[in-house]
Amino acid sequence: MKTFTSKKTLQEYLHQLKASNKTIGFVATMGALHQGHISLIELAKQQNDIVVCSVFVNPTQFNDPKDLEKYPRTIEADTKMLEQAGCDILFNPEVNEMYDGNEQWHLNLGETEHLLEGEFRPGHYQGVTQVVNKLFNIVNPDKAYFGQKDYQQFLIISKMVDMLNMPVNLVMCPILREADGLAMSSRNIHLTPEDRQHALVLSKALNWLKDNFDKHNIPELKQEAEKMINSEPGVELDYLAIADGDTLHPATENTKSIVALVAAKVGKTRLIDNVILVHG
Ligand code: PAJ
Repeated sequence: MKTFTSKKTLQEYLHQLKASNKTIGFVATMGALHQGHISLIELAKQQNDIVVCSVFVNPTQFNDPKDLEKYPRTIEADTKMLEQAGCDILFNPEVNEMYDGNEQWHLNLGETEHLLEGEFRPGHYQGVTQVVNKLFNIVNPDKAYFGQKDYQQFLIISKMVDMLNMPVNLVMCPILREADGLAMSSRNIHLTPEDRQHALVLSKALNWLKDNFDKHNIPELKQEAEKMINSEPGVELDYLAIADGDTLHPATENTKSIVALVAAKVGKTRLIDNVILVHG
Protein backbone atom coordinates (compact mmCIF):
# COMPACT_ATOMS: atom_id res chain seq x y z
CA MET A 1 0.00 0.00 0.00
CA LYS A 2 1.23 3.49 -0.84
CA THR A 3 0.64 6.28 1.68
CA PHE A 4 0.30 9.93 0.68
CA THR A 5 0.04 12.97 2.92
CA SER A 6 0.19 15.53 0.10
CA LYS A 7 -2.78 16.01 -2.20
CA LYS A 8 -0.54 17.11 -5.08
CA THR A 9 1.58 13.97 -4.97
CA LEU A 10 -1.51 11.79 -4.67
CA GLN A 11 -3.13 13.53 -7.63
CA GLU A 12 -0.03 13.05 -9.77
CA TYR A 13 0.08 9.36 -8.91
CA LEU A 14 -3.65 8.87 -9.59
CA HIS A 15 -3.31 10.74 -12.86
CA GLN A 16 -0.87 8.10 -14.13
CA LEU A 17 -3.19 5.29 -13.08
CA LYS A 18 -6.15 6.91 -14.80
CA ALA A 19 -4.10 7.41 -17.96
CA SER A 20 -3.79 3.61 -18.08
CA ASN A 21 -7.59 3.31 -17.73
CA LYS A 22 -7.65 2.01 -14.16
CA THR A 23 -10.94 2.50 -12.33
CA ILE A 24 -10.74 4.08 -8.88
CA GLY A 25 -12.92 3.15 -5.90
CA PHE A 26 -12.83 5.50 -2.91
CA VAL A 27 -13.63 5.08 0.77
CA ALA A 28 -13.57 8.20 2.98
CA THR A 29 -13.04 7.64 6.71
CA MET A 30 -11.97 9.41 9.86
CA GLY A 31 -9.86 6.43 10.93
CA ALA A 32 -10.14 4.31 14.10
CA LEU A 33 -11.01 1.67 11.58
CA HIS A 34 -13.15 -1.37 12.32
CA GLN A 35 -14.63 -4.19 10.27
CA GLY A 36 -17.45 -1.90 9.07
CA HIS A 37 -14.94 0.35 7.32
CA ILE A 38 -13.09 -2.69 5.99
CA SER A 39 -16.30 -4.04 4.44
CA LEU A 40 -16.43 -0.84 2.36
CA ILE A 41 -12.83 -1.39 1.25
CA GLU A 42 -13.63 -5.00 0.32
CA LEU A 43 -16.61 -4.04 -1.81
CA ALA A 44 -14.57 -1.27 -3.46
CA LYS A 45 -11.86 -3.84 -4.26
CA GLN A 46 -14.35 -6.14 -5.93
CA GLN A 47 -15.69 -3.36 -8.13
CA ASN A 48 -12.59 -1.33 -9.06
CA ASP A 49 -8.96 -1.75 -10.18
CA ILE A 50 -7.57 0.56 -7.50
CA VAL A 51 -8.88 1.36 -4.01
CA VAL A 52 -8.10 4.65 -2.28
CA CYS A 53 -8.95 5.16 1.40
CA SER A 54 -8.67 8.49 3.18
CA VAL A 55 -8.12 8.77 6.92
CA PHE A 56 -8.77 12.34 8.00
CA VAL A 57 -10.47 13.55 11.16
CA ASN A 58 -12.27 16.50 9.62
CA PRO A 59 -12.47 19.39 12.11
CA THR A 60 -15.22 21.29 10.25
CA GLN A 61 -17.85 18.61 10.83
CA PHE A 62 -17.49 18.64 14.63
CA ASN A 63 -19.73 21.16 16.32
CA ASP A 64 -18.35 20.20 19.73
CA PRO A 65 -14.60 20.87 20.15
CA LYS A 66 -14.38 18.26 22.95
CA ASP A 67 -15.81 15.62 20.63
CA LEU A 68 -13.14 16.49 18.05
CA GLU A 69 -10.40 16.35 20.66
CA LYS A 70 -11.40 12.95 21.97
CA TYR A 71 -12.09 11.38 18.56
CA PRO A 72 -9.92 8.22 18.52
CA ARG A 73 -6.77 8.40 16.40
CA THR A 74 -5.13 5.05 15.65
CA ILE A 75 -3.26 5.54 12.39
CA GLU A 76 -0.74 2.71 12.91
CA ALA A 77 -3.44 0.10 13.49
CA ASP A 78 -5.50 1.64 10.66
CA THR A 79 -2.56 1.32 8.26
CA LYS A 80 -2.14 -2.37 9.14
CA MET A 81 -5.84 -3.10 8.68
CA LEU A 82 -5.90 -1.36 5.31
CA GLU A 83 -2.80 -3.25 4.17
CA GLN A 84 -4.36 -6.55 5.19
CA ALA A 85 -7.58 -5.68 3.39
CA GLY A 86 -5.60 -5.06 0.19
CA CYS A 87 -6.20 -1.31 0.00
CA ASP A 88 -3.88 0.20 -2.64
CA ILE A 89 -3.58 3.80 -1.51
CA LEU A 90 -3.95 5.56 1.84
CA PHE A 91 -4.43 9.33 1.88
CA ASN A 92 -3.67 10.65 5.36
CA PRO A 93 -3.30 14.45 5.18
CA GLU A 94 -2.71 16.94 8.00
CA VAL A 95 -5.41 19.54 8.66
CA ASN A 96 -3.41 22.33 6.97
CA GLU A 97 -3.06 20.22 3.81
CA MET A 98 -6.86 20.15 3.50
CA TYR A 99 -7.67 23.64 4.77
CA ASP A 100 -5.70 26.82 4.25
CA GLY A 101 -6.90 29.66 6.40
CA ASN A 102 -10.49 30.52 7.15
CA GLU A 103 -12.18 29.35 3.98
CA GLN A 104 -15.93 29.73 3.69
CA TRP A 105 -18.24 26.92 2.61
CA HIS A 106 -21.96 26.80 2.30
CA LEU A 107 -24.12 24.59 0.11
CA ASN A 108 -27.87 24.94 0.05
CA LEU A 109 -28.66 21.34 0.95
CA GLY A 110 -32.36 21.90 1.56
CA GLU A 111 -34.26 20.97 4.68
CA THR A 112 -32.87 17.42 5.08
CA GLU A 113 -29.72 19.06 6.41
CA HIS A 114 -31.57 20.40 9.44
CA LEU A 115 -33.55 17.29 10.40
CA LEU A 116 -32.51 14.53 12.84
CA GLU A 117 -28.68 14.64 13.06
CA GLY A 118 -28.78 18.15 11.63
CA GLU A 119 -30.93 19.31 14.52
CA PHE A 120 -28.62 17.85 17.15
CA ARG A 121 -25.37 18.70 15.33
CA PRO A 122 -25.93 22.10 13.66
CA GLY A 123 -23.52 22.70 10.80
CA HIS A 124 -22.37 19.06 10.76
CA TYR A 125 -23.44 18.37 7.18
CA GLN A 126 -21.88 21.57 5.87
CA GLY A 127 -18.57 20.25 7.27
CA VAL A 128 -19.18 16.79 5.82
CA THR A 129 -19.97 18.10 2.34
CA GLN A 130 -17.04 20.53 2.53
CA VAL A 131 -14.53 17.75 3.13
CA VAL A 132 -16.13 15.14 0.87
CA ASN A 133 -16.23 17.70 -1.94
CA LYS A 134 -12.50 18.32 -1.47
CA LEU A 135 -11.73 14.60 -1.30
CA PHE A 136 -13.76 13.88 -4.45
CA ASN A 137 -11.93 16.66 -6.27
CA ILE A 138 -8.56 15.28 -5.22
CA VAL A 139 -9.24 11.56 -5.82
CA ASN A 140 -11.74 11.86 -8.67
CA PRO A 141 -13.10 8.36 -8.06
CA ASP A 142 -15.34 6.38 -10.39
CA LYS A 143 -17.20 5.00 -7.40
CA ALA A 144 -17.34 6.09 -3.75
CA TYR A 145 -18.53 3.84 -0.94
CA PHE A 146 -20.45 5.06 2.12
CA GLY A 147 -22.17 3.14 4.90
CA GLN A 148 -25.90 2.92 5.54
CA LYS A 149 -24.82 3.38 9.18
CA ASP A 150 -24.76 7.12 8.44
CA TYR A 151 -27.98 7.06 6.44
CA GLN A 152 -28.61 10.80 6.48
CA GLN A 153 -24.98 11.45 5.49
CA PHE A 154 -25.52 9.28 2.41
CA LEU A 155 -28.63 11.28 1.43
CA ILE A 156 -26.79 14.57 1.89
CA ILE A 157 -23.74 13.47 -0.11
CA SER A 158 -26.03 12.20 -2.91
CA LYS A 159 -27.69 15.60 -2.93
CA MET A 160 -24.31 17.36 -3.23
CA VAL A 161 -23.22 15.04 -6.06
CA ASP A 162 -26.46 15.81 -7.94
CA MET A 163 -26.29 19.55 -7.30
CA LEU A 164 -22.65 19.88 -8.37
CA ASN A 165 -22.93 17.31 -11.17
CA MET A 166 -19.97 15.40 -9.79
CA PRO A 167 -18.90 12.47 -12.00
CA VAL A 168 -18.96 9.82 -9.27
CA ASN A 169 -21.27 6.89 -8.54
CA LEU A 170 -22.21 6.49 -4.89
CA VAL A 171 -22.65 3.04 -3.39
CA MET A 172 -24.49 2.48 -0.09
CA CYS A 173 -23.03 -0.41 1.93
CA PRO A 174 -24.84 -2.42 4.65
CA ILE A 175 -24.30 -1.82 8.37
CA LEU A 176 -21.80 -4.21 9.96
CA ARG A 177 -22.71 -5.25 13.50
CA GLU A 178 -21.05 -6.98 16.42
CA ALA A 179 -22.36 -10.50 17.13
CA ASP A 180 -24.81 -9.10 19.72
CA GLY A 181 -26.26 -6.55 17.28
CA LEU A 182 -24.41 -3.36 18.26
CA ALA A 183 -23.60 -1.39 15.10
CA MET A 184 -19.82 -1.11 14.70
CA SER A 185 -18.58 2.43 15.28
CA SER A 186 -15.28 4.14 15.99
CA ARG A 187 -16.99 5.65 19.02
CA ASN A 188 -17.71 2.25 20.61
CA ILE A 189 -14.15 2.40 22.03
CA HIS A 190 -15.45 4.98 24.52
CA LEU A 191 -18.20 2.73 25.91
CA THR A 192 -17.63 1.30 29.41
CA PRO A 193 -18.61 -2.37 29.83
CA GLU A 194 -21.92 -1.19 31.37
CA ASP A 195 -22.54 1.30 28.53
CA ARG A 196 -21.78 -1.47 26.06
CA GLN A 197 -24.63 -3.57 27.52
CA HIS A 198 -27.06 -0.63 27.69
CA ALA A 199 -26.22 0.32 24.08
CA LEU A 200 -27.75 -2.94 22.85
CA VAL A 201 -31.22 -1.48 23.37
CA LEU A 202 -30.76 0.60 20.20
CA SER A 203 -30.36 -2.33 17.81
CA LYS A 204 -32.97 -4.28 19.82
CA ALA A 205 -35.53 -1.51 19.37
CA LEU A 206 -34.74 -1.28 15.64
CA ASN A 207 -35.05 -5.05 15.25
CA TRP A 208 -38.32 -4.99 17.12
CA LEU A 209 -39.59 -2.37 14.66
CA LYS A 210 -38.57 -4.53 11.72
CA ASP A 211 -40.22 -7.63 13.17
CA ASN A 212 -43.42 -5.85 14.16
CA PHE A 213 -43.77 -3.43 11.27
CA ASP A 214 -46.85 -5.17 9.88
CA LYS A 215 -48.53 -5.55 13.26
CA HIS A 216 -48.99 -1.92 14.36
CA ASN A 217 -49.50 1.50 12.86
CA ILE A 218 -46.57 3.93 12.68
CA PRO A 219 -47.43 6.07 15.76
CA GLU A 220 -47.77 2.89 17.85
CA LEU A 221 -44.49 1.52 16.54
CA LYS A 222 -42.70 4.77 17.33
CA GLN A 223 -44.18 4.98 20.81
CA GLU A 224 -43.28 1.39 21.67
CA ALA A 225 -39.69 1.71 20.40
CA GLU A 226 -39.24 4.96 22.32
CA LYS A 227 -40.58 3.28 25.45
CA MET A 228 -38.06 0.44 25.10
CA ILE A 229 -35.17 2.86 24.80
CA ASN A 230 -36.35 5.25 27.51
CA SER A 231 -36.67 2.41 29.99
CA GLU A 232 -33.01 1.39 29.55
CA PRO A 233 -30.77 2.86 32.27
CA GLY A 234 -27.87 5.04 31.13
CA VAL A 235 -29.44 5.74 27.72
CA GLU A 236 -30.68 9.21 26.83
CA LEU A 237 -32.67 9.27 23.60
CA ASP A 238 -32.08 12.16 21.18
CA TYR A 239 -34.58 10.92 18.59
CA LEU A 240 -36.29 7.85 17.26
CA ALA A 241 -37.76 8.56 13.84
CA ILE A 242 -39.75 6.42 11.46
CA ALA A 243 -39.12 8.42 8.36
CA ASP A 244 -39.46 8.64 4.62
CA GLY A 245 -36.18 7.20 3.34
CA ASP A 246 -35.80 9.98 0.76
CA THR A 247 -36.82 13.10 2.67
CA LEU A 248 -36.48 11.98 6.33
CA HIS A 249 -39.86 13.52 7.05
CA PRO A 250 -42.14 11.40 9.26
CA ALA A 251 -43.41 8.41 7.32
CA THR A 252 -47.09 7.68 6.80
CA GLU A 253 -48.74 4.39 5.84
CA ASN A 254 -48.39 5.44 2.16
CA THR A 255 -44.69 6.26 2.22
CA LYS A 256 -42.77 4.16 -0.36
CA SER A 257 -39.41 3.89 1.35
CA ILE A 258 -39.32 3.81 5.16
CA VAL A 259 -36.37 3.86 7.51
CA ALA A 260 -36.19 3.91 11.31
CA LEU A 261 -33.35 6.05 12.66
CA VAL A 262 -32.17 6.42 16.23
CA ALA A 263 -29.64 8.55 18.09
CA ALA A 264 -28.94 8.36 21.78
CA LYS A 265 -26.30 9.14 24.34
CA VAL A 266 -25.14 6.01 26.08
CA GLY A 267 -23.16 7.15 29.09
CA LYS A 268 -21.02 9.91 27.59
CA THR A 269 -20.99 8.48 24.07
CA ARG A 270 -23.44 9.46 21.37
CA LEU A 271 -24.42 6.59 19.07
CA ILE A 272 -26.57 6.36 15.95
CA ASP A 273 -28.13 3.40 14.19
CA ASN A 274 -30.91 2.69 11.69
CA VAL A 275 -32.81 -0.01 9.86
CA ILE A 276 -34.57 0.07 6.52
CA LEU A 277 -38.17 -1.03 7.12
CA VAL A 278 -39.51 -0.72 3.59
CA HIS A 279 -37.25 -0.59 0.54
CA GLY A 280 -38.45 2.02 -1.97
P1 PAJ B 1 -16.44 7.51 9.55
O1 PAJ B 1 -17.35 7.67 10.71
O2 PAJ B 1 -15.03 7.08 9.80
O3 PAJ B 1 -17.11 6.49 8.56
C1 PAJ B 1 -16.52 6.21 7.31
C2 PAJ B 1 -17.48 5.38 6.51
O4 PAJ B 1 -17.68 4.11 7.15
C3 PAJ B 1 -18.88 6.04 6.39
O5 PAJ B 1 -19.36 5.89 5.07
C4 PAJ B 1 -19.69 5.21 7.39
O6 PAJ B 1 -21.09 5.19 7.09
C5 PAJ B 1 -19.06 3.84 7.25
N1 PAJ B 1 -19.34 3.02 8.44
C6 PAJ B 1 -19.19 3.35 9.73
N2 PAJ B 1 -19.61 2.36 10.54
C7 PAJ B 1 -20.04 1.35 9.72
C8 PAJ B 1 -20.61 0.05 9.95
N3 PAJ B 1 -20.81 -0.40 11.17
N4 PAJ B 1 -20.92 -0.69 8.87
C9 PAJ B 1 -20.71 -0.22 7.61
N5 PAJ B 1 -20.18 0.99 7.33
C10 PAJ B 1 -19.86 1.77 8.37
O7 PAJ B 1 -18.51 9.06 8.02
C11 PAJ B 1 -17.42 9.58 8.22
O8 PAJ B 1 -16.35 8.89 8.75
C12 PAJ B 1 -17.13 11.02 7.85
O9 PAJ B 1 -18.27 11.80 8.02
C13 PAJ B 1 -16.57 11.19 6.40
C14 PAJ B 1 -17.57 10.73 5.35
C15 PAJ B 1 -15.24 10.43 6.25
C16 PAJ B 1 -16.28 12.69 6.14
O10 PAJ B 1 -15.36 13.20 7.05
